Amino acid sequence: MHQFLKFIIVTIISSLLFTLITTEEIFPSNQPTENERKSLDSPSVENPTENSTVASLANATENKLCLSAYPEECPLIEKNNTCQCAKHKTIPAFWVCCNITDMSLVSSCNIQSNSSIHIINATLNKLNISNSLFQMLNSISITDGNVKSIVGSMSLFAYLKCLNVSNNNITEIHDKETAFAKLQKFQYIDLSHNNLSLIPKLRAENNALMDIRNNLVLLCSPLMNIIGTIKLIEPNNTFCMYNQSYYWFNASSPIRISDLERTAELKKECPKNCTCSPDSMNFDKSILVLFAKVDCSGLNLTELPPVLPKNTQTLNISFNSITALGDYFHTEPSYSKIIRLIANDNQISSIYELEGTDFLRDCQKLDMRNNALQKIPEYILTNTLDNNPNGREFKFGGNQLECDCDSAKVFKLWLLARKRHIPDYENILCLDSKRIIDLQEKNLCQSPHDWTDYIYYVIAAEVLLLMSLIMKVSYDYWVFKTSGYLPWPANKMPKLPCDWLCES
Ligand SMILES: *[C@@H]1O[C@H](CO)[C@@H](O)[C@H](O)[C@H]1NC(C)=O
Ligand SMILES: *[C@@H]1O[C@H](CO)[C@@H](O)[C@H](O)[C@H]1NC(C)=O
Ligand SMILES: *[C@@H]1O[C@H](CO)[C@@H](O)[C@H](O)[C@H]1NC(C)=O
Ligand SMILES: *[C@@H]1O[C@H](CO)[C@@H](O)[C@H](O)[C@H]1NC(C)=O
Ligand SMILES: *[C@@H]1O[C@H](CO)[C@@H](O)[C@H](O)[C@H]1NC(C)=O
Ligand SMILES: *[C@@H]1O[C@H](CO)[C@@H](O)[C@H](O)[C@H]1NC(C)=O
Ligand SMILES: *[C@@H]1O[C@H](CO)[C@@H](O)[C@H](O)[C@H]1NC(C)=O
Ligand SMILES: *[C@@H]1O[C@H](CO)[C@@H](O)[C@H](O)[C@H]1NC(C)=O
Ligand SMILES: *[C@@H]1O[C@H](CO)[C@@H](O)[C@H](O)[C@H]1NC(C)=O
Ligand SMILES: *[C@@H]1O[C@H](CO)[C@@H](O)[C@H](O)[C@H]1NC(C)=O
Ligand SMILES: *[C@@H]1O[C@H](CO)[C@@H](O)[C@H](O)[C@H]1NC(C)=O
Ligand SMILES: *[C@@H]1O[C@H](CO)[C@@H](O)[C@H](O)[C@H]1NC(C)=O
Repeated sequence: MHQFLKFIIVTIISSLLFTLITTEEIFPSNQPTENERKSLDSPSVENPTENSTVASLANATENKLCLSAYPEECPLIEKNNTCQCAKHKTIPAFWVCCNITDMSLVSSCNIQSNSSIHIINATLNKLNISNSLFQMLNSISITDGNVKSIVGSMSLFAYLKCLNVSNNNITEIHDKETAFAKLQKFQYIDLSHNNLSLIPKLRAENNALMDIRNNLVLLCSPLMNIIGTIKLIEPNNTFCMYNQSYYWFNASSPIRISDLERTAELKKECPKNCTCSPDSMNFDKSILVLFAKVDCSGLNLTELPPVLPKNTQTLNISFNSITALGDYFHTEPSYSKIIRLIANDNQISSIYELEGTDFLRDCQKLDMRNNALQKIPEYILTNTLDNNPNGREFKFGGNQLECDCDSAKVFKLWLLARKRHIPDYENILCLDSKRIIDLQEKNLCQSPHDWTDYIYYVIAAEVLLLMSLIMKVSYDYWVFKTSGYLPWPANKMPKLPCDWLCES
């Protein structure tokens, strides 16, 4: 009896095992093993604590450098007098003039060198600062009037320390490159409450302070280039305007200068030999955030820069000798905000590294033209392209892929279905320079028959075999029960250790 049971068990187990092995071979679990999606916690946008030296300089406004008089202190001078200015009652070497309509009413006065002057309510189309009088004064205030523009330039030999042209409706400083650039002793210029769109250049060595508050049409973009080099009064309280000809501001509201100053940080964080510039400025929650564009093209790089400026949105690494993307997109926080990667003309062999990254989720542009990609794993791109496809663009032209039946059967169709987002889909090639879109399924998929083609016959045969086994076993059991002798294979089997167990 025990011999017989053993035989049955051995037969059934071996039969089941065989079936399992064969079915596993034709239906391998071939779903792409998705890398564990590393959830890159987006780094908390650090709110750079306003720690600009400029803030402490606000103090300097307290030490009024330009001498000022109150309108009540205006001297009463007969209209037929050619000099409309008078010395201040208490402050020495300080002249005050009011309601001036022509500069000759000032130059005709006998004003000595190293004096100061305040002209209240001047009405002038042009204020010519080349005027020889201005070259010998220490401080000039021409405020609360109506001056349309400033022309000319101050001389190299001028003593001027402070100029206040606040509240005049000035729309232009004509020679803004040279007007004040030569002044050696210059410390302060108040251009507030005017209509300037561009600010004048100052001599860098002086570290002069500039007040440009309340110029409502001040343009941000020209300021970007000089923002690190000028010292402004209250950058918190100074705003510039979005200029439509500069595409990189999406915000339409006035921009705080203190936020613009962050662009200066870009230069410090920029990878060696790369160029970093502002890409766009946008509100992230209520904080204005500057997004950066990093251009490292054509530098003979062999790998990606290890660290980028924070909030890098566009990375250009084209025309280098990079062979792999590495795992920066998974591990380096400064890579997590990238939405445009321009990596054409390298030797990159795979984009599997991008699977599961924030970049691939939010990607707007991926340019991988003319690389050494062997495969384009469409399954890692599908989600990105199919969820909210607007404005996304992938380029893979000029790569020579390893083509197989799958390329013709699956990839080609995938490509054609998404050609709107893969504009160069026609230039994606196989190793033999054949275009993917020309692949014919019937040419590529006639693989030579192997035994798996007959697997269904094998399985049927196995089932038959199993059934006949069961029948034979049942028959043998019946024979054993009725006549008492063991069937052929069972009585030939060697003794196994378990036999004694069974016997007892
Ligand atoms: C700015 O911050 C740095 C470190 O964060 C500090 O060493 C420096 O003293 C600060 N400067 C000012 C003016 O607060
Ligand atoms: C402001 O000026 C006063 C006096 O001129 C000086 O004592 C103080 O330290 C200054 N404050 C700052 C923040 O520079
Ligand atoms: C410049 O003139 C304006 C208007 O009179 C005045 O409010 C301001 O304090 C002056 N600025 C300086 C630095 O003296
Ligand atoms: C200016 O006008 C006043 C009267 O309005 C007169 O007394 C004075 O002589 C005039 N001065 C000159 C220089 O003409
Ligand atoms: C300037 O003009 C205003 C308004 O016309 C007048 O009230 C003021 O007295 C004038 N000041 C001088 C010094 O002429
Ligand atoms: C400023 O001067 C002009 C011309 O002299 C005058 O008409 C105007 O009333 C003056 N304004 C003030 C506020 O003094
Ligand atoms: C004016 O002051 C400067 C120094 O600030 C000096 O070199 C110059 O001689 C002075 N001019 C006059 C006329 O006093
Ligand atoms: C300004 O004044 C200087 C000399 O006083 C003169 O040479 C120049 O032509 C003037 N400029 C304008 C634009 O009037
Ligand atoms: C500035 O110009 C505007 C119009 O261009 C005018 O309404 C305003 O009175 C001017 N301001 C001064 C101080 O002259
Ligand atoms: C500038 O703004 C920052 C935060 O935006 C604030 O902490 C700081 O006190 C402000 N400084 C001035 C002078 O308003
Ligand atoms: C930057 O460029 C210089 C000159 O082209 C080169 O010597 C240097 O190695 C480069 N640095 C990096 C980090 O590529
Ligand atoms: C890159 O390498 C090539 C050859 O090695 C050289 O000719 C070229 O000047 C290099 N370019 C830069 C930017 O270093």
